[in-house]
Amino acid sequence: MEERLQKIRDEALKAIPEIKSQEEWEALRIKYLGRKGILPELLKQMGSLPAELRPRIGQLANAVKKEIETALNTRQVRVPSGRQAAPKTDITLPGRFIPPGKLHPITQITSEVCDIFERLGFAMAEGPDVELDYYNFEALNIPRDHPARDMQDTFYISENVLLRTHTSPIQVRTMERQRPPLRIIAPGKVYRCDSDITHTPMFHQVEGFMVDKGVSFADLKGLLTIFVHQIFDEQTSLRFRPSFFPFTEPSAEIDILCVICRGSGCRVCSQTGWLEVMGAGMVDPEVFRMVGYDPEEVTGLAFGMGIERIAMLKYGIDDIRLFYENNLRFLKQF
Ligand code: PHE
Repeated sequence: MEERLQKIRDEALKAIPEIKSQEEWEALRIKYLGRKGILPELLKQMGSLPAELRPRIGQLANAVKKEIETALNTRQVRVPSGRQAAPKTDITLPGRFIPPGKLHPITQITSEVCDIFERLGFAMAEGPDVELDYYNFEALNIPRDHPARDMQDTFYISENVLLRTHTSPIQVRTMERQRPPLRIIAPGKVYRCDSDITHTPMFHQVEGFMVDKGVSFADLKGLLTIFVHQIFDEQTSLRFRPSFFPFTEPSAEIDILCVICRGSGCRVCSQTGWLEVMGAGMVDPEVFRMVGYDPEEVTGLAFGMGIERIAMLKYGIDDIRLFYENNLRFLKQF
């Protein structure tokens, strides 16, 4: 018995270093250690040995089993990582394409608008989306009974806290902190309880304003003309239409020549030849008084535009909701 065990051990330890493949390794493992393998079969015969021999032979058999196991395990580590077993690399396969991300069209237009005004000396500013009634209405000369405060337009959080309905509160917040001269451009999200093909409950505006000694309506016209020519093109003329905002006096709405029909009349401009793109005016003296500026000393201009509207006209998009459906086939076009 002892001799047989020695022989098995020597044979196995000679064969194991010769293993060349995973298959050979597996065959040897089964031959020696498998359920019907040489060693387990031998151990089954232990019962027929005289009792005094059993402990010694048992010990030896276990030692041999351990030795073969160790030899196999050490060998196993090397076989699969050897050159033969490694998977072949096909260097002719094309690489995996990693698509680059893109900025959302609204983000693109917002930075285009801000860039134009930054080149004209305007500095960026921001304000909170969750705003106080005071900044959104009160300080902008919008009295308690003004229709813009109607529950159906404004999302109220509490009596004095709301989601801003326009970016004009940034005018007040900035003027409270800084003294003139000021030239500010301020983008942001705004919220109104409204939803159809031209309205979403959240949309984007850019607010611009400038306060200094001697700022005039001519400056407003000049700035907005430069802006429209840069964001659309030089052929896009502007029209200033008298209007009303509680925080500007005089106030105007700015129309541009229809980018689709160039003035002859079409569905987009409802046959008028013109498209409304923003509100503007000279800062109302009442607003200056609220922030402690002297309206006898400084004057100011202000304007506010909807980014979605500019984007829709620039790209010929007829449904505002496309911007918020996250359909990649739509978004990839920009
Ligand atoms: N805040 C106005 C709006 O949302 C736009 C505006 C801004 C008008 C600045 C005049 C001056 O409609």
